[in-house]
Amino acid sequence: MEKIAVITSGGDAPGMNACLKSVVEMSYNYGYECVAFRRAYKGIIDNDYFTITKDDVKNIFNLGGSMIYSARCEQFLDIEYKKIAVQNLNKLGVKALVVIGGNGSYLGAKSLVDLGVNVIAIPATIDNDVHSTSDSIGFDSAVNNATNMIDNIRQTMQANERICLIECMGRHGGNIALYSAMASEADIVAVPEDPLDKAHIYRFIQDQLNYGNRSPTIVVAEKQYDIFQLSREIQRDFNHECRAVALGYMQRGGSPTVKDRMLAIRYGVSAIELIDKNKFNFAIGLRDDKIIATPIDKAVKMHSNFRQDLYDSFKLLNNPRNKK
Ligand code: F6P
Repeated sequence: MEKIAVITSGGDAPGMNACLKSVVEMSYNYGYECVAFRRAYKGIIDNDYFTITKDDVKNIFNLGGSMIYSARCEQFLDIEYKKIAVQNLNKLGVKALVVIGGNGSYLGAKSLVDLGVNVIAIPATIDNDVHSTSDSIGFDSAVNNATNMIDNIRQTMQANERICLIECMGRHGGNIALYSAMASEADIVAVPEDPLDKAHIYRFIQDQLNYGNRSPTIVVAEKQYDIFQLSREIQRDFNHECRAVALGYMQRGGSPTVKDRMLAIRYGVSAIELIDKNKFNFAIGLRDDKIIATPIDKAVKMHSNFRQDLYDSFKLLNNPRNKK
């Protein structure tokens, strides 16, 4: 039996397990054996794999996390370790490797392609910053998690007339912050794609207070500010109570939404169909709700898929100066 290998890589994302399940089931349906490497590229270097069966994946569809573990692998930046990984894959006689992960994992996939390995990449990251697709597995779940939490926080802030700073995940991209800020009717969003300095944030807060909003909500993507320090400064400078909340890993865990489960199935099915047709080295994705396949070398060079149009709408809606 020919073998298809699979890894889940990078920060985990709700729906990775669902995608793993569809890859495993499709592999056997098409007459392949499926092997899973634990801990992504690290597992390939360490030759830490097992034959994963339909039985193994029976009960994982709706679970967050990854049953085969996900990891980032520093070692994999080193060409010597990449060569070991290639040797291990070749020794095992793998027809193709399915990489389920985000843009860092895509770079790893591309380097394996350069060394002669057949790869198919599937986008799975809560950040939705894989540029060759409109939708990554896990993003919708993370945004729903964040939105629910921001809704709750806003209610208690309103009751106590407090300003609030809420930090979402997304160190390089502001998609989670933007979508969850819009969906929870927050007042201000700060994303790395349009960095706001403290003076900007102060002006926005002052505008909100001037227009009678006693509990402005500011949603920020992580790594831009020390939100706890900033909240103390806001409280002091506006003489108005302010609180800071980092949503952290509560965004990344939990069951995948319906949207992410559907993506997981569609991407998994398409990956094995491509491999079965001997079409390799593509990144699977979605555009206008249609499955697309972009050559990996092109996918890793594409520009940001930050939704500037949504960001512009958000700013128009929330600028009290625009209100007559
Ligand atoms: O890539 C997904 C992500 O959750 C980012 O939003 C976040 O910045 C990062 O991973 C956190 O990574 P780690 O869990 O390794 O600290």
